[in-house]
Amino acid sequence: MHGITMGNHTWDQKEIFDFIDKEERMVRPANFPAGTPGRGYTYIKVKDAELAIINLQGRTFLPPLDCPFEKANELVEQAKKRTKYVLVDFHAEATSEKLAMGWHLDGKVSAVVGTHTHVQTNDERVLPQGTAYVTDVGMVGPRDGILGMERVAVMQKFKTQLPVRFVVDEGKWHFHAVCIDLDTATGLGKKIQLIRMDEDGVLFE
Ligand SMILES: [Fe+2]
Repeated sequence: MHGITMGNHTWDQKEIFDFIDKEERMVRPANFPAGTPGRGYTYIKVKDAELAIINLQGRTFLPPLDCPFEKANELVEQAKKRTKYVLVDFHAEATSEKLAMGWHLDGKVSAVVGTHTHVQTNDERVLPQGTAYVTDVGMVGPRDGILGMERVAVMQKFKTQLPVRFVVDEGKWHFHAVCIDLDTATGLGKKIQLIRMDEDGVLFE
């Protein structure tokens, strides 16, 4: 079974309100106000174990949600009562805020992976207390656009500062991911490896 984490664009398509409460695989940032539709964490079956997936959103250059660090404390404590395998997707803009979350949760969760900036970072490591970490996993989508959008419009926006309609780029794709090995005794990270490939072949693995 798979889990799907969301972020600051969770509510962009209004149809999501029709199914987010029912869709147990889907996790939106947990630090939205109480009563927000959907869920901020879920559990998925992996062989005979369970993986908790927690989604949090940063507050630097993003809307002022509840404190993601305090929310992390609360949800991690709750998840650890049920499983030793806990993955946190921290959807945030600032590399510093993502690093802070990695260190905040080091030794407490299996992995902290960053998302949102669409550009994979090469700082993957297992932190000293055993949490696998990367600042940003990257993206799956168009390779030659800018953060997934047709680049001409994005470049025009930067150059003119005028309003521009962005369109999803439909050129060649690329695929970014991480592969994380967990210790079955402790639930902590043993190894984290970047995967980066594109339509023309595997670039790095
Ligand atoms: Fe985002």
